[in-house]
Amino acid sequence: MPQTANIAILHEQINSWYTEAARNLPWRIPPEQWPWPDVDRPWAILVSEVMLQQTPVARVEPIWHEWIRRWPTPANLAVASPGEAVREWKRLGYPRRALRLHAAASTVVTDHAGIIPSDFQQLQALPGIGIYTAAAVEAFAFGIRSVVIDTNVRRVQARLVTGVAQAAPRLTTAETQLANSMLPADEVTTAVWNVAVMELGALICTVSAPACDRCPVRDRCVWVHAGRPTYDGPVKRVQKWAGTDRQVRGKLLQVLRDAHAPVSRHYLDMVWHDTAQRNRCLTSLIEDGLIEIVDVEKFRLPN
Ligand code: ADE
Repeated sequence: MPQTANIAILHEQINSWYTEAARNLPWRIPPEQWPWPDVDRPWAILVSEVMLQQTPVARVEPIWHEWIRRWPTPANLAVASPGEAVREWKRLGYPRRALRLHAAASTVVTDHAGIIPSDFQQLQALPGIGIYTAAAVEAFAFGIRSVVIDTNVRRVQARLVTGVAQAAPRLTTAETQLANSMLPADEVTTAVWNVAVMELGALICTVSAPACDRCPVRDRCVWVHAGRPTYDGPVKRVQKWAGTDRQVRGKLLQVLRDAHAPVSRHYLDMVWHDTAQRNRCLTSLIEDGLIEIVDVEKFRLPN
């Protein structure tokens, strides 16, 4: 475990690197420079975090801009139909996130007078908001000293402190405790630290091509000192795409996104050859509330 004086230097090294090297991402713009007075910044940050959970930055950014232009506050989204949220989700994938954001916006309106709460428990009680997102919104929207642990942070910790190439498949208590112990004592340093460690994982300490020669903390990296051993622990299942139900669901949903009136089954039948798989996917989309049956054999996004 790093010691106090030592850890203050670590904070300084990673935070300075971030100041120099970070990407300019719109959801990271601080409150005093926020360029869109009509856009509720905590809401925009919450939307970004939900989008970024399972989708890369480059794909999220344009859609995020469209979302916050169209729905600058939770109240704006709450009065739209859930189907519009699904339509605007475009091809970000895992579209249940759009329904959950819509539900979260409605809850914020009914339970919090339209204002995104800054309290961790209240955030976590919103639909689709787990521990990670609640902590991220606390930290990035409100500057609260919270422990934010995503996959990038976990990988940086695993290498830098534990000395292994990868984190375990699932977040462990030990990792959370380690992240806690590494957190700066003050809010200002922590606000940068949380996003800086994440960015280090995204840009330098990557999964398959870590750029250790450009890493600000390579000299103290336990993994580097050990000769960068390959990982031999349990592996995380990587989700395939081609031929999977996820791909077929995406194709079916795309037909309804492109249509502005109910669609007959015939058009859905054309997107995938395997009838059993197609029907299974259509049924699951209906069960998830992503597709509605209008009348016999006609379908649309939820109204
Ligand atoms: N900045 C703040 N949160 C982020 C995230 N989840 N991914 C990438 N950049 C971020």
